[in-house]
Amino acid sequence: MKVNLLGGVQGLWLVTGAAGFIGSNLVETLLLAGQQVRAIDNFATGHRQNLDAVLRSLPTAYAANFTLVEGDITDSAVCMQAMKGVRRVVHLAALGSVPRSLDNPINTNAANITGFLNILDAARREAVDGFVYASSSAVYGDEPNLPKEEGRVGKPLSPYAVTKCVNELYAENFARVYGFKAIGLRYFNVFGARQDPNGAYAAVIPRWVDAIIKNQPITINGDGETSRDFCYIDNVVQANIRSALAPDSARGKVYNIAAGGRTTLNQLFGLIRDGLAQLHVAYSLEPHYGGFRPGDVRHSHADIALARDRLGYAPTHDILAGLTATLPWYLANQTHFSKEA
Ligand SMILES: NC(=O)c1ccc[n+]([C@@H]2O[C@H](COP(=O)([O-])OP(=O)(O)OC[C@H]3O[C@@H](n4cnc5c(N)ncnc54)[C@H](O)[C@@H]3O)[C@@H](O)[C@H]2O)c1
Repeated sequence: MKVNLLGGVQGLWLVTGAAGFIGSNLVETLLLAGQQVRAIDNFATGHRQNLDAVLRSLPTAYAANFTLVEGDITDSAVCMQAMKGVRRVVHLAALGSVPRSLDNPINTNAANITGFLNILDAARREAVDGFVYASSSAVYGDEPNLPKEEGRVGKPLSPYAVTKCVNELYAENFARVYGFKAIGLRYFNVFGARQDPNGAYAAVIPRWVDAIIKNQPITINGDGETSRDFCYIDNVVQANIRSALAPDSARGKVYNIAAGGRTTLNQLFGLIRDGLAQLHVAYSLEPHYGGFRPGDVRHSHADIALARDRLGYAPTHDILAGLTATLPWYLANQTHFSKEA
């Protein structure tokens, strides 16, 4: 059990993007706490194996509290139908990745803006009690100051960042015009079990872990001094649950969700290589250095004081503790993403 905040909580949850990395981890925690969960996903980037693994690991009585709507959030009728009887929403479904949005801004816009609005409006019409959505540290864009504070954002550097800015604008507007107060969580580079290591748009931690396990070469984008506030999945699950249950005074806002530290890509490479070496995975290759990625923020480091104060957010894992928990999962589940559904 990751965080026990759910004692006595009742009512149906809707988790969008539940077959994805963050969604499947949230669903696992909710079901383990005896909650009723409806999920929606179109498997654009998520995997049936993620949900199967969660359901297999649970006692049958808990797994029976789960239902899946296979559908696309760009369809407003699907969203209205999925929202019936729901008490709390965690909206995670989106097309992630800055490079993906540069390659195909239209698809990213459809899932991340049209899809977002469909879910937000359906939740408003259903008058749900709590609505939490995934924003991103990408909204800080070209704002140079560190650490990042919620009130100070710059211009977005990618279509993906634009979509998350628009999400925040819609949420703010719905609070103003309908009195429907959502909570936006600006995640900073989340990592942990069930994050997909495959494909051109994979995040850096699963990609490098997978490469080292398979003894394949690693390319670091830029000079390796690009830095990120890497945040372990348990911290993010906790933040979502706290936000969904937050009092009215904490709603209608956006919060940074991170570990509150800063790690360069060069340091990250060393941490992963050394962590896997302790698990007897030897890797003697040196990383190559490639060009900087367009649309990337150079440094990212969150001030998490607001989430601590208003939500009671208390991260349980720094990057080292998070990697220590994550690396054995990738070693033990090397065929997870290639399994037949
Ligand atoms: N992982 C991170 O580091 C990070 C950082 C900042 C923000 N976020 C945001 O958090 C959320 C979850 O990210 P994740 O890392 O779990 O990504 P993920 O790709 O693993 O999960 C996203 C899920 O949404 C589903 N989905 C996409 N488009 C859909 C559609 N049109 N209809 C229904 N389902 C759809 C996918 O199939 C997938 O299961 C996203 O909104 C992402 O932008 C993630």
